[in-house]
Amino acid sequence: MGLSELQRTSGRWGEVVDEIVRLEKKIFPKHESLARSFDDELKKKNSGLLYMEIDGEIAGYVMYSCPSSLCAVVAKLAVKEKYRRQGHGEALMKAAIQKCRSKRINRISLHVEPLRSSAVNLYKKLGFQIDTLVTAYYSSDRDAYRMFIDFGNE
Ligand SMILES: CC(C)(COP(=O)(O)OP(=O)(O)OC[C@H]1O[C@@H](n2cnc3c(N)ncnc32)[C@H](O)[C@@H]1OP(=O)(O)O)[C@@H](O)C(=O)NCCC(=O)NCCS
Repeated sequence: MGLSELQRTSGRWGEVVDEIVRLEKKIFPKHESLARSFDDELKKKNSGLLYMEIDGEIAGYVMYSCPSSLCAVVAKLAVKEKYRRQGHGEALMKAAIQKCRSKRINRISLHVEPLRSSAVNLYKKLGFQIDTLVTAYYSSDRDAYRMFIDFGNE
């Protein structure tokens, strides 16, 4: 079992991206899934993907990006159903936060559907606060919380 950062130079790039795209399709509704654009998203500058592997299987992943030197965005977090409630989501999220902090960013923000209570609880547990409710964020009838966590970079 281990947590790795996907490296562009890695010989496993294609294999790992393919498996994550399969998970995206399974876990998220079509318009919310990054399945079609995953590879492109990852090729963007300042984006990163951490994934958890258990017995050679990808159990979960988190994708983040740092669009500016001040703030980062967590674009996706997911854990395969059979591996949930074992601390992997929290471990992935903490690792992503560490990565962002090492770049000395001041704020991490994300969007999450209020109905996704597992995720909302996880973000709150790690110190994220709800900023606002963005209506019709995902689609005409699906809103999102915008959440954030700030760090004082001393
Ligand atoms: C959200 C998700 C990543 C959590 O992953 P996980 O590995 O099961 O989470 P963990 O075991 O690390 O749990 C960490 C914390 O999250 C919260 N949590 C996780 N599952 C929960 C559940 N079913 N009910 C309530 N809280 C939950 C709790 O605060 C938990 O802390 P605790 O164990 O001290 O109570 C996972 O449920 C998932 O992939 N959901 C579908 C995709 C999704 O909603 N992604 C987020 C939107 S982009």
